[in-house]
Amino acid sequence: MPGVRGPSDYSQEPPRHPCLKINAKEPFNAEPPRSALISSYVTPVDFFYKRNHGPIPVVDDIERYCVSISGLVENPKELFMKDIRMLPKYNVTATLQCAGNRRTAMSNTRKVKGVGWDVSAIGNAVWGGAKLADVLELVGISMLTSTTQSGGKHVEFVSIDKCKEENGGPYKASIPLSQATNPDADVLLAYEMNGETLNRDHGYPLRVIVPGVIGARSVKWLDSISVIAEECQGFFMQKDYKMFPPSVDWDNINWSTRRAQMDFPVQSVICSLEDVSAIKPGKIKVSGYAASGGGRGIERVDVSVDGGKTWMEASRYQKTGIPYITDDISSDKWAWVLFEVTVDVMHSTEIVAKAVDIAANVQPEKVQDIWNLRGILNTSWHRVQVLVGHSNL
Ligand code: MTE
Repeated sequence: MPGVRGPSDYSQEPPRHPCLKINAKEPFNAEPPRSALISSYVTPVDFFYKRNHGPIPVVDDIERYCVSISGLVENPKELFMKDIRMLPKYNVTATLQCAGNRRTAMSNTRKVKGVGWDVSAIGNAVWGGAKLADVLELVGISMLTSTTQSGGKHVEFVSIDKCKEENGGPYKASIPLSQATNPDADVLLAYEMNGETLNRDHGYPLRVIVPGVIGARSVKWLDSISVIAEECQGFFMQKDYKMFPPSVDWDNINWSTRRAQMDFPVQSVICSLEDVSAIKPGKIKVSGYAASGGGRGIERVDVSVDGGKTWMEASRYQKTGIPYITDDISSDKWAWVLFEVTVDVMHSTEIVAKAVDIAANVQPEKVQDIWNLRGILNTSWHRVQVLVGHSNL
């Protein structure tokens, strides 16, 4: 790829904020402290989790950088940044969540494979860029197409980075053509994050954003787009990021029996308290985030201060001054909601949160019931312990 290269070592990594908790150094995987997530609806770039599978690509000459669009299309094309910037620009507020969010807690019940994450492999940003549906029109594919004349049904995104899992090849993923060509699905080729040029960690110069879908499909450092007949056959689509039942282990796994995970399920997490916190008796504010995939809004967040015996409803909000109404046009459908409730805590106890989405999907109670060998999609009730001390706290 002219103008951009994927290094094979880690000598050219970008600087990062010192508050990030590093879960793996090379490739760089890090998350902010949970308290950072609730300090603003839009997560600052510095505090946005970073999930990589190889060294961060380097842009030597942005003028020469271009994305090729080919495969089962009528007019294959190469688009330079100036061509992409000429298309109508959209700002989409969307939450990106890694499928491995909360993996450490799943692994604590029974060991799973993968980078450990606490609860902050998630963030909410305003992504600016062109709609993929507009880009595909340039190569002759109309809006709302599920199959091209030559049999194209999927859109594959190929990156520039070099990943061990791909034997030194690039990271890749695909989405169905019907989603890619649906302007309402808001799939973007993004060049901005929170109003600034995308930074290197998050995919500079260009990345895909697939709202409502696990982060793994939002390919960073885009090199090429290909319209293909079958789903992408890359490692991360076929041999990773699939959900298995608790009975499957590394001896009896058959990857081809399961579909590649796309939408993420309903999730909520308490961010105002650590796993174990010492507090004084009295009122405390419990706050956190809730999100669901597929554009499903959050209908309710329940909080319990007695380990899940009784519940009270938390208030939900997105933008200040605008009440959050689950499926209203004023709400950001691809974005998380923050929640808060003030509770009285007089004795040491377990505080629990669970969310319900607009389809009435609710988080599962126990992590054991959704345990899977890759440790993905831990959406079990989020529980924290509070130790109430009556003196010198
Ligand atoms: N794209 C490339 N090229 N390489 C990667 O390693 N990681 C994916 C996705 N896109 C990845 C990628 C995963 S698993 C996630 S969760 C998101 O990027 C993380 O995006 P972020 O680092 O901007 O938060």
